[in-house]
Amino acid sequence: MNAAFDIARIRADFPILNETVYGKPLVFLDSGASAQKPRQVLEAMTKAYEKHYANVHRGIYRLSQDATDAFEAARETVRRFINAAETREVIFTRNSTEAINLVANSYGWGMLKPGDEVLITHLEHHANIVPWQLLRDRHGIVLKVAPIDDDGQLIWDEFDKLLTDRVKLVGMAHVSNTLGTVLPVAEAIKLAHARGAKVLIDGSQAVQHMPVDMQALDADFYVFTGHKLYGPTGIGVLYGKAALLEAMPPWQGGGDMILSVTFEKSEWADLPHKFEAGTPAFVEAVGLAAAIDYVQSVGLDAIAAHEHDLTEYATRRLSAINSLRIVGTAPGKAGVISFVLGGIHPHDIGTILDREGIAVRVGQHCAHPVMERYNVPATVRASFGMYNTRAEVDALCDGLRRVMEIFG
Ligand code: ALA
Repeated sequence: MNAAFDIARIRADFPILNETVYGKPLVFLDSGASAQKPRQVLEAMTKAYEKHYANVHRGIYRLSQDATDAFEAARETVRRFINAAETREVIFTRNSTEAINLVANSYGWGMLKPGDEVLITHLEHHANIVPWQLLRDRHGIVLKVAPIDDDGQLIWDEFDKLLTDRVKLVGMAHVSNTLGTVLPVAEAIKLAHARGAKVLIDGSQAVQHMPVDMQALDADFYVFTGHKLYGPTGIGVLYGKAALLEAMPPWQGGGDMILSVTFEKSEWADLPHKFEAGTPAFVEAVGLAAAIDYVQSVGLDAIAAHEHDLTEYATRRLSAINSLRIVGTAPGKAGVISFVLGGIHPHDIGTILDREGIAVRVGQHCAHPVMERYNVPATVRASFGMYNTRAEVDALCDGLRRVMEIFG
């Protein structure tokens, strides 16, 4: 483990980690669903409400200008975080789901023709499946799915075969939310570009675990959400290459995204505002920037090393439990372990763990096709954040022993 990584100091920054549940210390192992927030994020948002609150882009008075400056500064913080070439390539959305829907509705409707193919993978969560199904059913695109192997890795040869010149867009998770597999996104982008397809990477489970660099990666679109990145709910990001975003039609209409409006015709604002109709979540953007500053102050490489250690440790300890089977065994997984335990239903396991103060996600993890692939109705999923410890992994193992005692 990284010696400079001060876990006690990090934990002290997250007020909720002092809470107890049923009289037991909270063991929070569900950061894949949503991460907890450091007080730096909460304080930045409180300050925005208490000192600088007024609507953005609309007022000539001081407060509105302060709020606008903070909002646009947050956009620049995001740009730096992902090393996008230009600030206008950062579009604020509600979450990753909305960012993907934006691409499906704008790029999909505007630039794909009926019969064009969109290729996704079997590892996607619903946010990167359903928008393409809607586009298929309403606009006539063809949706294809690249298969995965028993370990939970993309079968590269099959992906290669499916990526014909009919494919115009590839949609791929950077990290599987259910299994933790890290997908070969850089190689996939290179291959897709060589075959003339654009690529959307869903970074919902990646940006909090590893550094990402838009210029090095060369993705055409990259999406992520604030709340899994230790930031607030209600704010997400669509990164898109400027030339593509310029060419794409707007998807939602309203204030802020226009230059001029008459009843006959409207003209669109420039990027990024063309894709941000209505009052944006500007206080949440300030919170997201504070979360990014926090993550960067700890350092993503140090976070990745810590979570890698936890994942290895948890894999070792969980594998030693008889009748426990880990679902998804790809090497180099990112902070997620899904498992089943004997014939005990994950909901029962989750309920008993909850009484021990341990929060895990149980069910299908917004990824029904993954469950189907492994022929399990549901799994228990432990997912780690920077604040988790080996002692919490031990608590999980003790909790599972309790589950097995109860179920004999
Ligand atoms: N997609 C989120 C998860 O993995 C909600 O739990």
